[in-house]
Amino acid sequence: VAKHVLRDGHEIPQLGFGTYPMDDAEAEALIPEAVWRGYRLIDTAANYGNERGVGLGVRYCDIPRSDLFLTSKLPGRDHGTDSVRRSLEGTLERLGTDYLDLYLIHWPNPSVDRYVDTWRAMMAARDEGLIRSIGVSNFLPEHLLRLERETGEMPVVNQVELHPQYQQETLRAFHEEHKILTEAWSPLGRKTDLLQDPWLVEIARKVGRTPAQVALRWHVQSSIVAIPKSSNTERMAENIDVFEWELTDEQMERVRMLHTGISGSGFDPSVHEEM
Ligand code: A2P
Repeated sequence: VAKHVLRDGHEIPQLGFGTYPMDDAEAEALIPEAVWRGYRLIDTAANYGNERGVGLGVRYCDIPRSDLFLTSKLPGRDHGTDSVRRSLEGTLERLGTDYLDLYLIHWPNPSVDRYVDTWRAMMAARDEGLIRSIGVSNFLPEHLLRLERETGEMPVVNQVELHPQYQQETLRAFHEEHKILTEAWSPLGRKTDLLQDPWLVEIARKVGRTPAQVALRWHVQSSIVAIPKSSNTERMAENIDVFEWELTDEQMERVRMLHTGISGSGFDPSVHEEM
C-alpha cells in the first residue's frame, strides 16, 4: 500500500482497516487476517470497546511495530486537560503499545466546548512522544479554524463520513487549503444503496472489478484515506486490491456524479454530542 506524507512529515498508508463495530474477540481474530492481506493502518477508538482485541491481534502478527500505523480516538467524555492524558494512557495500555501513530479527537462535542483545551493536551502528549501525529474526526471548518486561532496549530487529519454518495466537496477544499489530509469513515456508504447504484455497477463491470473496489479506488485517486471495515476475509482482500489498476478521468467523473448528499449514518457533527 502506497503512502501519503502528512503536513508534520510522518507517513500514512493510503488505505486502512476499519474496526467498527467489532468486539474484542472479533478484532483479535480479524486483525491478523487483515495484516496478512497487506493492511498496515488499523483504525480503532476507545468508544469501539475493542482496543484490547486490536492489541492482541496485532501481537499475533509478528511484524515490527514500526511497520504498523495505529490510530485511536479520544472519546467525548474525556475532553478536558488531565482527562486527555488519562484516556490516552488507557488506550495505550489496552493496545499494548507505547505510542500511537495517530490520535484523533473523536468528536468536537460542541455543547461541552472543551475541544480547544483537549487539543492543547493532545499537542502536549505528542511533544512528549506518546503520539506521532494528532488529528480530529467529525470536525467542521468552524471548529478547525477555532483550533488554529486559539492554539496556532491545525490538525494534520480530519476523519469524516465520506463516500461517493456523500463526497464532502466543500470540506475537502477547506482541507486542501490548510494541508489537512481527509480520511473517510464509512467509505462504502454503509446503510445507503451505494454498492447497488446502477452507474457504479456499470463502471465495475467495465473495469472488471467490484462496486466496492471502484468506490475505494475513487477514494485513492482523490487522495482520501479510506478505512473500510470487513469481517469477511474475501472482502478484506478485495478492498485492499485497489492499487494495481486505475479509473480513467471519465470514470472518476462518473463516480463524482453519484453524489446525492444523503448521509449513510444520519450523523451531524454540529448537533450530535455523544462520541
Ligand atoms: P462485512 O463486514 O460483512 O464485509 P463501511 O466501512 O463503509 O462502514 O462499510 C462496512 C460495511 O460494508 C460492512 O457491513 C461490511 O460487511 C460491508 N463490506 C465491506 N467490504 C465490502 C465489499 N467489498 N463488498 C460489499 N460489502 C462490503
